[in-house]
Amino acid sequence: MGTSIGILALGDIVGKPGREVIAKRLPELRRREGIDFVIGNAENVAGGNGLTPDLAEKLFSYGMDCLTNGDHIWNKREIIPAIQKDLRLLRPANYPEEQPGRGWAVYETPKGAIGVLNLQGRVFMGTPAACPFKTSEKALTELTARTRVIAVDMHAEATSEKVAMGRFLDGRVSFVFGTHTHIQTADEQILPNGTGYITELGMTGPYDSILGRSVDPVLSKFITGMPHVFDVAEGDPRMSGCLFTVDAATGKTVGVKRIQESLQSAARK
Ligand SMILES: [Fe+2]
Ligand SMILES: [Fe+2]
Repeated sequence: MGTSIGILALGDIVGKPGREVIAKRLPELRRREGIDFVIGNAENVAGGNGLTPDLAEKLFSYGMDCLTNGDHIWNKREIIPAIQKDLRLLRPANYPEEQPGRGWAVYETPKGAIGVLNLQGRVFMGTPAACPFKTSEKALTELTARTRVIAVDMHAEATSEKVAMGRFLDGRVSFVFGTHTHIQTADEQILPNGTGYITELGMTGPYDSILGRSVDPVLSKFITGMPHVFDVAEGDPRMSGCLFTVDAATGKTVGVKRIQESLQSAARK
């Protein structure tokens, strides 16, 4: 095998605990695992809802290279001018074309170019989106002209839709990972035609919570049906995701390793 590229993908980064665990653990993880490029889903970065330009810059300074997004992207409107000009910020490619920003980009690294494509599913998702399968084909005609190393964030609720996207793109992209549901799945694998895959990366944020939010208001909403403010929880921050090792020459994934690191220095295994 020739040059291999280590690409880490981190699941939905939730609030301050999510940002802090990245600041404290990502530099060391990059060194330990020989990681070349880091992608993270940033839809929950700012107080759990959306992303601001200042917080995006902070994440880049901690070692993030590309921030994908999802249905919470427009919750902070300040992100609009930044997403229009900063190629490191992506939003799902299958959103209405009138929306600001872009859904894919190519990044130059010392080991070669890396393409990243951000998609959103349509099953059990509230926001309007075109067919992610057809949109991926349109994106791939552009991306594959520039690089064989292509990462895909499939931001979706339904496991079936995520698995379907993995199978649809098997052999045509380097790897597909799921985001949005915040609970890591244990199905990391290399699909038959060489595409790395995991249904859900899991949350980068506070695990003493319900999907990153304080337990009591969420419980009360389920039980009483009354509206509540869902504040970001604080306890047990962890960084959760998957490390894909990609053969730079073929673009195929040769290694998949699920990652979950707690804020404490002893790695949680
Ligand atoms: Fe999320
Ligand atoms: Fe989401």
